[in-house]
Amino acid sequence: MPSAHATNDWWRTAVIYQVYPRSFADSDGDGVGDLAGVRQRLDALTELGVDAVWLSPFMTSPQRDGGYDVADYCDVDPLFGTLADFDDLLTGAHDRGLRVIVDLVPNHTSSEHPWFAEALAAGPDSPERARYLFREGRGAAGELPPNNWQSVFGGPAWTRITEADGTPGYWYLHLFDSSQPDLDWSNPWVRERFREILRFWLDRGVDGFRVDVAHGMIKADGLPDYTPDPEGGSMGGDALDVPYWAQEGVHEIYRDWRKVLEEYDRERVLIAEAWVNPLSKMAQWVRPDEMHQAFNFGYLETPWRAEALRLVVDESLEAFGAVGAPSTWVLSNHDVIRHPSRLALTPPPPQGEGIGPRSPRHPDELVGLRRGRAATAFMLALPGSAYVYQGEELGLPEVSDLPDAARQDPTFIRTAGEMYGRDGCRVPIPWEAGAPAAGFSTTGVSWLPQPEVWGSYARDAQRGVPGSTLEFYVAALAARREHGLAAGDIEWLETEPAVLAFRNGGLTIVANTGLVPVSLPDGEIVVSSGPAGDGVLPGDTTVWLR
Ligand code: GLC
Repeated sequence: MPSAHATNDWWRTAVIYQVYPRSFADSDGDGVGDLAGVRQRLDALTELGVDAVWLSPFMTSPQRDGGYDVADYCDVDPLFGTLADFDDLLTGAHDRGLRVIVDLVPNHTSSEHPWFAEALAAGPDSPERARYLFREGRGAAGELPPNNWQSVFGGPAWTRITEADGTPGYWYLHLFDSSQPDLDWSNPWVRERFREILRFWLDRGVDGFRVDVAHGMIKADGLPDYTPDPEGGSMGGDALDVPYWAQEGVHEIYRDWRKVLEEYDRERVLIAEAWVNPLSKMAQWVRPDEMHQAFNFGYLETPWRAEALRLVVDESLEAFGAVGAPSTWVLSNHDVIRHPSRLALTPPPPQGEGIGPRSPRHPDELVGLRRGRAATAFMLALPGSAYVYQGEELGLPEVSDLPDAARQDPTFIRTAGEMYGRDGCRVPIPWEAGAPAAGFSTTGVSWLPQPEVWGSYARDAQRGVPGSTLEFYVAALAARREHGLAAGDIEWLETEPAVLAFRNGGLTIVANTGLVPVSLPDGEIVVSSGPAGDGVLPGDTTVWLR
């Protein structure tokens, strides 16, 4: 085993690379990426210098929400391969010293999961129905939904079923698409099934789980009406009284899961997707007996402004530090506008809105790339664990010109196109300029169309090219490791208003978030997000100095 595997607490400093399997690499030419494709491209990840891979869901699913609608938690969807392909990928990753995190979706199943089919067949008030949140409708004939909750993807969060005898029946809750019925986590039967699912993957050798919607599994008693603040994000946010987000009862579930993980030898981890503010509240998800890490969405949502960044970094280190957890840092994932495009828009559109042909504002690609790289260089110098979303190491922008007919995100469908949704960050990534589908698939087929510019971002067009985004990521990840930045402490240095500077691990990090060039302190440049030197740090640029 490579030495990394012997180290406990590996996750405290890890760089975790998110693979969205549909869009990473397609080995069989059907236009959808697969596990064998990931296996074939593992060397690109070791070359990049990451420590772990998080795979978005590849389990059996009708794919109504990109696999976040699971119909069998313990099998691989044929679209992505087989369990043998998964084992092969896991072995290939472990042989290279890469850990593997799988995505677990416990808040809801697919409506095609046998548990839901059995619930429908079993009839009202049966134990099978009690796995989900079925309720009688309001109104004289139950014709109105049980409460006023709205789906994160738009429209009501309730769908009425038709009973076996053809009469209109109860309603079931779905915080997301109607194909994603919410489980009732107050039911011990549900809890026991998920212990089994955890063990299934732990027995196969996975290094941990990214837990989907980890702030949503428990709903307030009585399911009271709730009208969200239209300005707040649909996944939660500042509001403290949302009856379906951040309920106290979720913590008991993670304490239980932590015990399951501790039945295993080397350290396996739980990572929370919990859109909870403030960060001091989010930190409750990573108390010593709960999860290990939580995505720092407060950081992700911070604009590229010196004052705001300094505040969120301090708040993060303090909040997570107070419970003994590392902070994480993340700028992009499969649910948000890719950060080069997002940071070029001030203010950015709310999460889930996306960018499309009819959007009022469009980011400038070059400004975005420069700013995105500067933001990455700032992030990778911070102590803790960092996330990199596939394609960001190539500098990919959000694809904003997808034709409506190609869009697949339920957000787009459920809002009748009012919100473009998340397809623009999910376009299959380019590997080889000039190859069919830019090397994503052998046949040139791609489940979302790739834009013309994709070839110029291809990995082979950047590999070994000084100043390319790929080489910048490789250099930054290597220097991060060499100088122990992830395990370090930061000390802020006083600067002019648009500039941020701190010391960590013997380096000085200087980020110019403004547009006007500033003077660069003395020192040898170890990493630079863009052209800099001769005493000048241009706008939207970050350097690491020795
Ligand atoms: C999480 C996932 C997102 C998915 C949703 C419902 O937010 O990251 O992609 O649509 O949960 O499972």
